[in-house]
Order: sequence, then structure tokens, then C-alpha cells
Amino acid sequence: MYVAPSILSADFGRLNEEIAAICDSGADLIHVDVMDGHFVPNLTIGPLVVEAVAKVATKPLDIHLMVENIPFFVDLFLKFNPKFITFHIEEEKHPLRLIQYIRDKGISPGIVLNPHTPVSTLEHIITEVDMVLLMSVNPGFGGQKFMPVVYEKIRALRELIERKNAKCLIEVDGGVNGLNAPELDEAGADVLVAGNYIFSSSSYEEAIRALKMQF
Ligand code: DX5
Ligand code: ZN
Repeated sequence: MYVAPSILSADFGRLNEEIAAICDSGADLIHVDVMDGHFVPNLTIGPLVVEAVAKVATKPLDIHLMVENIPFFVDLFLKFNPKFITFHIEEEKHPLRLIQYIRDKGISPGIVLNPHTPVSTLEHIITEVDMVLLMSVNPGFGGQKFMPVVYEKIRALRELIERKNAKCLIEVDGGVNGLNAPELDEAGADVLVAGNYIFSSSSYEEAIRALKMQF
């Protein structure tokens, strides 16, 4: 299991220290939630902050775009050379074109599904992406309650990946904690995003180990 701490729940007054701490505590990716105040009712992290994060991070960036006008934002963040850029299928008319554009820039493209969006929408896209992010809360805020509907979506996605012989990671984001991690693992998740659970814990290392089920 890979773990991607969401820096949305970090202490932004000490962001450098927070990034260094999670990188030293077993994080595999740094999950960056970009919100524009239009696609979701919250406004968060822009390129200035991501530039600062990229300077300290010793782990690859995983940029989750929750925005309208996605290509504009893709161009803003390409220069920080993230490992992944993921965007919401609900918002993009030409996802395949954008996936190809991101890949041509040397970055792994991924698609995000809101809790209500069926996995079947990925039928003809799944072989083109490196990651699918399944939301287990309505996007917009950290610290929300986990939606168990994601379990059956993980299973359906795992089945689709196998049927199409696709090579793509399954990432789950929202309300993830040490209690639901084992069931997410069993359902077939590869990457767990966690904000509140990690940053509100007294030991980032122990929280990340719990998500990886290393006891
Ligand atoms: C929600 C974001 C998540 C969120 C996760 O829109 O995409 O990444 O910050 O935070 P927790 O783990 O606190 O639900
Ligand atoms: Zn996210």
C-alpha cells in the first residue's frame, strides 16, 4: 500500500517543516489539493505554494485538480514536475485529449471520480491512465466522513482494470483512516490519501504505518 498525505490538513504556518516531516515518516507521495472556488466551494493551493512545497519535498508530488478550466491549471503546475496530475472526469469534455497532453509532458495522467460517478464511465479510458482516484467524500474539504460506497467502486474498478489488462493504480481519497485502511486494502486500493488522520496524529510515522498496516 502506498500512502499520500494530503497537505490540506498541514499547518501552513510551518509548511516547510510539515513537508519534511511527512517525507521522513514513510510517505510515498505528497498529495496536493488544488481547489478553485468554482468546481468546489473552497479555494486552496496555487502555484506559489506548490513551488515552495516542491523545493522541500523529497517525495514525488501527486496533484489533484478540483477546478474548472482544467487545461489552464495543468499548464500552471506542469513546471513543478509532479509525478501525477489527476483531474475530474465530471468537468472535462475531452478527457482523452488532456490525458495525452499530460503524458506528452512526461507526467503520469490520472482521472478522478466523484462519489456519484459510476466506474463504467472509464470503460474506454482505463488503458490510457496511470491512476484512477476514487473520491470517498464530496470534494472540497478535509476532515469529512468516509463514504462506504467506495468499496464497491474499488471492486468494480479492479475488475475493469483486469478485464482491459490496464496498468493503473487505484487511489482512494477522503475520510481515510487506520480503521478503514484494511477494508480498502482488501477491496483492492493501491494508494491511500489521508489528510486529517495523519496531520492530527501525534506521530506521522505511526499514522502512515497504520495506513500501510505495518504493525
Ligand atoms: C477533499 C480532498 C482530500 C482531502 C482528504 O476534497 O481531495 O484530499 O484533503 O482529507 P481527509 O483525509 O481529511 O478527508
Ligand atoms: Zn485530494
